[in-house]
Amino acid sequence: MSTLVTGIGELVTNDPLLGAGPLGVVHDAALVAADGLVAWVGPATAAPAADERVDVGGRAVVPGFVDSHAHLVFAGDRSAEFAARMTGVRYDGGGIASTVHATRAASDSELRTRLAGLVAEMRAQGTTTVEVKSGYGLTVDDEARSLRLAREVTAETTYLGAHVVPPEYAGRRDDYVALVTGPMLDACAPYARWIDVFCEPTSPHSFDADSARAVLEAGRRAGLGLRVHANQLSAGPGVVLGCELGAASVDHCTYLSGTDVDALAGGGTVATLLPGVEFSTRHPYPDARRLIDAGATVALASDCNPGTSFTTSMPFCVALAVREMGMTPVEAVTAATAGGAQALRRDDIGHLRVGARADLAVLDAPSYVHLAYRPGVPLARTLPLRT
Ligand code: NIG
Ligand code: FE
Repeated sequence: MSTLVTGIGELVTNDPLLGAGPLGVVHDAALVAADGLVAWVGPATAAPAADERVDVGGRAVVPGFVDSHAHLVFAGDRSAEFAARMTGVRYDGGGIASTVHATRAASDSELRTRLAGLVAEMRAQGTTTVEVKSGYGLTVDDEARSLRLAREVTAETTYLGAHVVPPEYAGRRDDYVALVTGPMLDACAPYARWIDVFCEPTSPHSFDADSARAVLEAGRRAGLGLRVHANQLSAGPGVVLGCELGAASVDHCTYLSGTDVDALAGGGTVATLLPGVEFSTRHPYPDARRLIDAGATVALASDCNPGTSFTTSMPFCVALAVREMGMTPVEAVTAATAGGAQALRRDDIGHLRVGARADLAVLDAPSYVHLAYRPGVPLARTLPLRT
């Protein structure tokens, strides 16, 4: 079964060999998808025949968004914490404990329903790949359960047992790190592709460089790829540690020293920026311009979670990145697609070359620029194809 998608007013391929500029833009384009993959892409006038035909009526089409950072397995509500922040209370990670409490008390089916609802919200806004972390269970069984449920919706699952030190380990951080790097890792690794740690020494709840290194090295020994929550609340050691250990991505990067920027510019670790967090915590936005100008690879992701960024919308993140972080629309769309793919070390998504997954987002707009130009308007949706 093959499908010809035609009537594409503006196609973003993310391959400069296929079209104009860094986004590889083709106007009046068509694309053929077969067996879930891109089989042909080019000008509509040259398109081959296919079993089925979908005309998108002159709309823009972009590669589906790759949301490389999200926490979707949780229960409970923290809107009161958000409201308190808007009166000046500062975020320090302490509210995570309330989500842990609610998540442990929830049934599998409650967690599954919430998770499926959030993934559906994402798809309805053009996201075709999402990474999902554990991190609200923080017992061996609850972390393994979170990852088992996450595996039902994505292959990009991340073990985040080292999110915070849970209340029952208060004052016994080393004992908790031993659990995270021992029995909890053994129980979680079969369901996880990645390991992550919240490295933020200024937070009383999270982990310093030595603990973070122990967590990441244990994960690597278990065959997991590495990711780090780093430099969200201060210019701490997380970014340099992640770069040194070859992490696929260091995420947040809100407070960066010159050394951090050099480490990101000089290596293969992606800087994943999460502007929904700064929106929702009233922290300063990360300086994407500085990172890009230094030569770092930048990704944008939602960080959807009940504490710091309860949005599923990649278009919202694109708009914030353009308006608040010094990114051009070209850079922001690249970061939300190809950048996310690189942060997940995937070469089959984030672009529309022949052989890529036929993951498409169609926009109710003539151009990708409208993602930032028309903020808050639901322009993007995933284009489901029969292939
Ligand atoms: O990515 N910083 C740590 N983790 C999440 C927030 C989790 C929460 O507050 O529930 C983040 O911002
Ligand atoms: Fe996060």
